Amino acid sequence: MKTAITEMFNIEHPIIQGGMHYVGFAELAGAVSNAGGLGIITGLTQRTPELLAKEIARCHDLTDKPFGVNLTFLPAFSAPPYPEYIAAIREGGIKIVETAGRSPEQYMPALKAAGIKVIHKCTSVRHSLKAEQIGCDAVSVDGFECGGHPGEDDMPNMILLPRAAEELKIPFVASGGMADARSLVAVLAMGAAGMNMGTRFIATREAPVHDNVKRALVAASELDTRLVMRAIRNTERVLKNAGVDRLLEIEHEKGAKLKIEDIRDEVAGVYPKVMIDGDMDAGAWSCGMVVGLIHDIPTVKELIDRIMAAAEQLIRDRLVGLLGAETKASLKVA
Ligand SMILES: Cc1cc2nc3c(=O)[nH]c(=O)nc-3n(C[C@H](O)[C@H](O)[C@H](O)COP(=O)(O)O)c2cc1C
Repeated sequence: MKTAITEMFNIEHPIIQGGMHYVGFAELAGAVSNAGGLGIITGLTQRTPELLAKEIARCHDLTDKPFGVNLTFLPAFSAPPYPEYIAAIREGGIKIVETAGRSPEQYMPALKAAGIKVIHKCTSVRHSLKAEQIGCDAVSVDGFECGGHPGEDDMPNMILLPRAAEELKIPFVASGGMADARSLVAVLAMGAAGMNMGTRFIATREAPVHDNVKRALVAASELDTRLVMRAIRNTERVLKNAGVDRLLEIEHEKGAKLKIEDIRDEVAGVYPKVMIDGDMDAGAWSCGMVVGLIHDIPTVKELIDRIMAAAEQLIRDRLVGLLGAETKASLKVA
């Protein structure tokens, strides 16, 4: 399948694996790129720019195909040295960067000077337009369904994607709630040039996380995510667990007076405990509503191949099948 995104990133299938803290290591990014999608290493999971350089080199050993690096500009307890991370990306020969969180405006000159294509992930039409205006090459439009940070507008993709299509000139992919061929075909119809998946890629054989995490995703339903940190305007969609219950209790008690220090134990340092140790009650970790559509743990290649095969079948059999005989004849399809 050819779209503006497959052309821009020189990939076979219009499927991107979004950056994920403590999940987006070389093993997963390499597997996604080898399967014809775009794999993305999560920059800040590497504690220093030197470690990111090593992770990029490791991924080059695993695949000859293009892969990217995610750089997230979120409120953190201490700001990372972004220019040094960008130097590691540039020196590692990376040509695609997924930015997220705050606007990447400040870093665009450095990224563009290195010939890097920038896809910015954002949760609203106004932020997408801003990304276009500052020179981003594409946008990942992240609906309210998404795992991670859905922003504060609560706009689901059924509205957000057609609105993005109305306003944007640069290509965009749909992010949030994407799981399978139905997702891909639906978002192509709404004007997207592909899809970005996060949660779905965690439940794959290659995702380098504890088996407890993959089992929890298969066991959970679409009703099992919660929104946390709304009071401090850093809303995150996470999988419900005992740590999240504690966090919600604190949030309930503190109300609008909530401060990040009040919930530090439930949100800071949680990822290694969950992803490496498999401690599923450690606290808040991102997970999308799409978890309700995850029923197995295939290899990345099985997942991507089955999405592409079923998408073609959906278009051919279901969509074209709905057309009248005359239109079908004019399209020269059976
Ligand atoms: C466990 C997890 C960790 C994530 N970490 C990051 C991150 O560090 N930076 C980022 O830009 N997005 C992060 N995301 C968001 C994903 O890149 C992607 O936008 C999102 O998962 C899409 O929604 P979905 O989960 O419904 O597919 C994370 C998502 C998950 C599930």
